[in-house]
Amino acid sequence: MTDVAARVRELLPSVRADLEDLVRIESVWADPARRPEVHRSAELTATLLSQAGFDDIQIVAEGGAPAVIARRPAPEGAPTVLLYAHHDVQPEGDATQWHSPPFEPTERNGRLYGRGTADDKAGIATHLAAIRAFGDELPVGVTVFVEGEEESGSPSLTALLAAHHDLLAADVIIIADSDNWAVDIPALTVSLRGLADCVVEVSTLDHGLHSGLWGGVVPDALSALVRLLASLHDDAGNVAVEGLYEAAAAEVEFSDERVRADSGLLDGVRQIGSGPVVQRMWARPAITVIGIDTTPIAKASNTLVPSARAKVSMRVAPGGDAREHLAALTRHLQAHAPWGARVTVTPGDIGQPYAIDATGPVYEAARQAFRTAWGREPIDMGMGGSIPFIAEFAAAFPDAEILVTGVEDPGTQAHSINESLDLGVLERAATSEALFLKALGALDG
Ligand code: BES
Ligand code: MN
Ligand code: MN
Repeated sequence: MTDVAARVRELLPSVRADLEDLVRIESVWADPARRPEVHRSAELTATLLSQAGFDDIQIVAEGGAPAVIARRPAPEGAPTVLLYAHHDVQPEGDATQWHSPPFEPTERNGRLYGRGTADDKAGIATHLAAIRAFGDELPVGVTVFVEGEEESGSPSLTALLAAHHDLLAADVIIIADSDNWAVDIPALTVSLRGLADCVVEVSTLDHGLHSGLWGGVVPDALSALVRLLASLHDDAGNVAVEGLYEAAAAEVEFSDERVRADSGLLDGVRQIGSGPVVQRMWARPAITVIGIDTTPIAKASNTLVPSARAKVSMRVAPGGDAREHLAALTRHLQAHAPWGARVTVTPGDIGQPYAIDATGPVYEAARQAFRTAWGREPIDMGMGGSIPFIAEFAAAFPDAEILVTGVEDPGTQAHSINESLDLGVLERAATSEALFLKALGALDG
């Protein structure tokens, strides 16, 4: 192993302690009551970067969450690398279902449990480890950019990129916010799906009605809504909306057994859609109903519900346009209401998909760094999830090469209960990033 790897190994306990301090901060930007915590996590991030040798550090905001920008200049002739992560986290959900308190980092079997231990405070920890491994002698210029509202769709990122364009300009951008193939197999994420969501409201009556008097004669809105939602898929579970875009996934084997094991699919429940797993997961649109507002069961009486609404979330294949996909979904919902029910669609968030041409010397250097650090060949993988701001970065810095790496693994359970980070993955991810920075410093520009 190289001296960089040995140095990262030495640093790991202190990096882990810093990560634990970050996890103890409940930086949930989506929860207005916890926004002060997001300011605290920005401040701690800035302090940690200061301790790692940065003296040019600012906490900035453009009407949204605070982001941290820290810079160390490039040695003569060396490129500048932007290291991205986010310090905000998802809400913890039902805390009683966690095996240890969500904001108290706890180690079990080589994994560190807690909200944000992986997504994406581990991204911050990885960058800190890679930087600290070089002490005062960074081989490249480094700009660290840690935003605070990724989990809310990065609404002010465009404004941040415009306001600080020159500070953030870089030759290479490393986004440490994705997955690995397995705890012992690294991955470069080369495509991500986009996102478009909406709320669909169905109304059939101008007030609730006695279900005995009127049932069987006039429709209730919830039954109409359920039929409308059912029209989004065919019987096999393929998306049935017209006019959506499909890409071609990389040819990677992803077994049905792995789907069952990694997803927790219950015995007897089948997969949806036809064709290879990775095609459905990375390269096709998907539609999910993520919430319904209607009468809760505890309040249900024998009444026809006059109106009901659902939030529908769509993933957009790389190459598709999220705005056009939302328009297609809206047209479908308006055209398929049963029984002439009234439908109102309120558009929600949009995030564009992204596909990367991962060829050339920079990507080769990254793959070599993975090989050395992990002792395994990295997989070029697609990603069913979304990191909408990547398209914005690419638009703001069209000449930069973008690498999407990460510290998650299939066991991470990001956004769910019992999120965790594999501590071996943290070490290997930090080592690869440090080796990659070193290689970039030596690459002929
Ligand atoms: N880090 C994730 C993206 C991700 C998901 C990477 C799964 C690897 C595996 C990111 O924080 C995220 O959750 N993105 C959101 C975007 C949305 C809030 C606009 C997503 O995919 O839902
Ligand atoms: Mn993330
Ligand atoms: Mn996330």
